[in-house]
Amino acid sequence: MPRVLFVCLGNICRSPTAEAVFRQRAQMRNFSVHNNPNPRRPDELYIDSCGTGDWHIGKAPDARALSAAQRRGYDMSSLRARQVNADDFFRFDFLLAMDNANLRDLEAMRPQGSTATVQLFLDFHPETKEVPDPYYGGADGFSHVLDLIEVASDRLLDTLSDCGAQQ
Ligand code: 4NP
Repeated sequence: MPRVLFVCLGNICRSPTAEAVFRQRAQMRNFSVHNNPNPRRPDELYIDSCGTGDWHIGKAPDARALSAAQRRGYDMSSLRARQVNADDFFRFDFLLAMDNANLRDLEAMRPQGSTATVQLFLDFHPETKEVPDPYYGGADGFSHVLDLIEVASDRLLDTLSDCGAQQ
């Protein structure tokens, strides 16, 4: 089972939402999800999120993201923002970027020797390629982010199931 890292800019809106939604939907489908990456447990999913920027390190998710998620039954109140670092390219199998700018930033900092797959999360969405940044918009933006993330999460879980990974 892969270790999956969701990456956005601030780690207070999109990627913590992806972390919480993906974790909950994985658990609903009876995937084993563990909370500690060490020691590595190949039969279990490990899920985390981070930002490329450093402005919000240590902060809880944006209040608008928290309430939009809560309205759909996702709890991300315990999550705290952190910044991506070079070790992440070795600790995770998939680094899934929310938009093309996040993807470019990740590709620019990938250390030599990392074999992690770095791609857009919405490669797992049938129509849309980027999760738009909701930070400067209204509440609608947060609901749209959830719509996109729910679909991509289910597709990614389908892919993992097809690989025979489900418990
Ligand atoms: P996120 O949203 O990348 O989805 O967490 C943002 C949060 C904060 C900022 C930009 C985007 N900011 O500029 O502070």
